Order: sequence, then structure tokens, then C-alpha cells
Amino acid sequence: MQIIRTVHEMQLACRNLTQKGTLGLVPTMGALHEGHLSLVRRAQAECHSVAASIFVNPTQFAAGEDYETYPRTFEDDCAKLEAVGVELLFAPRATEMYPADSSTFVEVGGIGDRLDGASRPGHFRGVATVVAKLFHIVGPDRAYFGQKDAAQIAVLRAMVRHLNFPVQLVTCPIVRERDGLAMSSRNRNLSAQDRSRALVLHRALERVCHRLEAGEVRSEILKRVLVQVFAEDESVRLDYAEIVEPHTLLPVAETTQGALIAVAAWVGSTRLIDNILTDNLAIETLHGGHGSMEEMHA
Ligand code: PAJ
Repeated sequence: MQIIRTVHEMQLACRNLTQKGTLGLVPTMGALHEGHLSLVRRAQAECHSVAASIFVNPTQFAAGEDYETYPRTFEDDCAKLEAVGVELLFAPRATEMYPADSSTFVEVGGIGDRLDGASRPGHFRGVATVVAKLFHIVGPDRAYFGQKDAAQIAVLRAMVRHLNFPVQLVTCPIVRERDGLAMSSRNRNLSAQDRSRALVLHRALERVCHRLEAGEVRSEILKRVLVQVFAEDESVRLDYAEIVEPHTLLPVAETTQGALIAVAAWVGSTRLIDNILTDNLAIETLHGGHGSMEEMHA
């Protein structure tokens, strides 16, 4: 696996690869787990060659957020990517990605201010900017993202459409631990006690699934179910529990087919997110392991 640190070298290497066939890109912030690797494997199954990136993007963290403490495990990450057979890894330093005079940003209005965008002002501006930059540097035919970050997908899909990026976005299902916790780089920062408390996100989604299967469709009632599960554990602080249309992230009054049920909560000093799409309602999708593959085009 070739590890590239500069934008110029990455552009040259990717131009070479795109001449040979389709190029898939898997953008990450490192501290890789099976969720990330599932995106890589999907990309490998669908593309001639695969590039990954590891970059803890400072512009998507607000002052006081966990940029400093975000887990960084570069050696270990390289070994994992090498083992699955990634050809190219782009791992720039912050000064390489953002020259000192950087003052150009991508802002997806509306959608970018909903769900995590509402809780973390400026977050999606940072995400959209860095992903736009990666698309320009790599020029991928397809780019792979996880359903775990459902609002991020909505924002990036809008960005690709609004700015005419010639790339197809592929969404991959959430990979979970055996007990149902959605895998996340931030899980590494949980104490043993918080690790078990973190299951509340999964439990809330499970409870709401049971109510849906019993025929309840009123979003207000279902949201109350979610809130109640979080209220059962005083040590966990709910950030949001929303039921929305997955492309616009606007609330839906009735939770019928194709709704996104999304939760975010603080477990100790770690903020975790999880979600389920109602067209995936089979409870198995909430269980550990690999769910069914689902693809969404931008
Ligand atoms: P990061 O949190 O490292 O995630 C990289 C990709 O892995 C994202 O598309 C995310 O949705 C996906 N992912 C994370 N956990 C997953 C899981 N349990 N199952 C399936 N996919 C999972 O998301 C980012 O980085 C950044 O915002 C980035 C897009 C790289 C821009 O900086």
C-alpha cells in the first residue's frame, strides 16, 4: 500500500489509477474498525481500484469538541488497510489540506443545519468542505459512506447534486458490535461503565421498532418512546431523537416506509449517534454483524 502525504502526489497517483478503470474512495478519520473496513470491501467488490483517506479534519470540530482527544491509531490503521488490500492511502497533515490562507468553504444550506448540524453548528460545513476537497484531489468514480452517519449522507448527497460532482455515492449499512452497539471510533474513548451505558441508543431504537411493528405510526408517540428509554438512565444525556425524511432531514408526522429514526446522546463525555431506516425494519438489522447491503445513488 502506497501512503501519500501531499495533495500533488495524490492527484498524480489517482490520475494514473482512473486511467486503468473505476476508482473507489473511502474517506475516514482513522481509528479504523469493521464499519470502515466494510466500506473498503464494498468498494473493492465494485471498483477496479480503491483509495482510502485518513484525516482527522479540524474544520468539522467546533472549539471545545473532541478534536484533540479523537483517537489516532495510524500504525494500526495502516496494517488493517494493507491487510484488506487497499492500494493507496492518503494521509495528509492539516497544513497540507488547509493552507494558512484557506477561506473557502462548502455550506449545504438547510439540510446542513438539521440533526447533527443543529447540535454541532458548523460541523457539516467542515464535512462538506473536506469531502469536496477529497473529491477534487482523488477524482473517484464512486465514494463510499456509512449509514451510521445518516445526516452526513443527506448533506453529501445534496452537495454532490448541487455542485455537480461527477461521483456516485454509495451508502453501506451500519456495522454493529455483537450486543448491538453501532461501531464507532469514539467507542474507544468509553470507560467500561460508559460502554455498557452506550447500549441505550440501540435499546431505544429496538423499543421503537417493536412499537412500529405493533402498528404505531404517529411520530410524536414514537419519539416519546425514544425519549422515555433515554430517561431510564440518568447518566446518559439525550441530544436528539428525531423521525425525519432521510433526504431532507425534515420531520415526518407519520413514520411510514422510508423514514429515518435517528438518535444522538452523550454518554459521559462522548457523543454517540445511531439510527434505523424504516424500510430496513427487520430487527436483524439492529443486531450485530453485517446487515443487508443497501445502495443509494446521489
Ligand atoms: P469517520 O467517522 O471515520 O467515518 C468514515 C466512514 O465510515 C463514514 O462514511 C462513516 O459513516 C462510516 N462508518 C463509521 N462507523 C460505521 C459503522 N458502524 N458502520 C458502517 N459505516 C460506518 O465520517 C467521517 O469519518 C468524516 O466525517 C469524513 C466523511 C471522513 C469527513 O471528514
